[in-house]
Amino acid sequence: HMAEKGGYKHFMLKEIFEQPRAVRDTIAGRLREEAGDVYLEDLSLNDEQLNGVERICIIACGTSWHAALVGKFLIEEHCRVPVDVDIASEFRYRNPVINNKTLVMLISQSGETADTLAAMRESRRRGATCIAICNVVDSSIAREADGVVYTHAGPEIGVASTKAFVTQLVALYLFTIRLGRARQIMDVERGRKMIAALVRVPALMEETLKLNEQVEKVARNYLHARDFLYLGRGMNYPIALEGALKLKEISYIHAEGYPAGEMKHGPIALIDENMPVVVLVPEGDNYEKVFSNMEEVIARGGRVIAVCSAGDEEVKKKVEVALEVACEDDDDVNPIILSIPMQLLAYHVAVLKGTDVDQPRNLAKSVTVE
Ligand code: G6P
Repeated sequence: HMAEKGGYKHFMLKEIFEQPRAVRDTIAGRLREEAGDVYLEDLSLNDEQLNGVERICIIACGTSWHAALVGKFLIEEHCRVPVDVDIASEFRYRNPVINNKTLVMLISQSGETADTLAAMRESRRRGATCIAICNVVDSSIAREADGVVYTHAGPEIGVASTKAFVTQLVALYLFTIRLGRARQIMDVERGRKMIAALVRVPALMEETLKLNEQVEKVARNYLHARDFLYLGRGMNYPIALEGALKLKEISYIHAEGYPAGEMKHGPIALIDENMPVVVLVPEGDNYEKVFSNMEEVIARGGRVIAVCSAGDEEVKKKVEVALEVACEDDDDVNPIILSIPMQLLAYHVAVLKGTDVDQPRNLAKSVTVE
């Protein structure tokens, strides 16, 4: 078994460490640097069709839904098309406003999630064009969609999704460039810059994976906590949700992800000296805001584990633990990089608690029944 895990103790850890490779494979052959554009071989929608889109709905479940939330930020920011994000099991039983000007995007690692497949069929029935971000070639969702952007994560065995998630973020980033360029709202220069930032990501991920040993030590100090709170803002809010989900799934510790600015409307009441609070506070757009949310936590005795940009002394002198991450100047790619400490923290807490990391209780890798 050790052999198929490539010498790692669990598939999850192997898959975490495979991520720079998975991202490289998802980018490979798709960049048109000169034109500041990307080529998505199975998208099957031409510029005219992409121009006709009035609204985008991204529909998914679980971790894939977190990727969808990041997608909303990317697409709205760079393409100025309104994006709604839905949970498939909610969408399919509503009376959603969908028509032939709506582009529905399904995100699914397996391509077999029953609720997501049903949401796609419902969208179709209402006239929408459907595209999918999938990891499994020829899966049901990939086959039925009008177009696909495949992630090239390779087979993911651990039930808790890791490399599939980060490659979904990459696929969304690539799609954003394609859509922005097709609609001519993104100029060549901007397209080139976004491509250049993406190309630097695998190396930054390799750098970030070096946190592994530090995170293992951190995990030892927090594994007896009953609850965790994860805070982030903007594009990093979905990464806070994802960090909390990972911890719940494999360590069975209750965890909640929250938009940092919303903390004062509820979770702040939970904060005491027993409460670890993971704060995503990289340099970039929302830095000052998140920083002050972090100070509010500290003022109430909360134990802050900050995930910050490398060398951020301001954060380091305030908190119990700082996980310093090699971030980009371009914050759009930071969610990809910040996912790594989230995954490692959940992993090490789970290992120390002795849970079945790759096959957590009650969970399935792909939920093909309702
Ligand atoms: C299950 C898995 C999750 C996954 C979700 C959606 O709950 O345990 O890891 O995020 O299904 O799966 P999909 O294959 O559609 O992305």
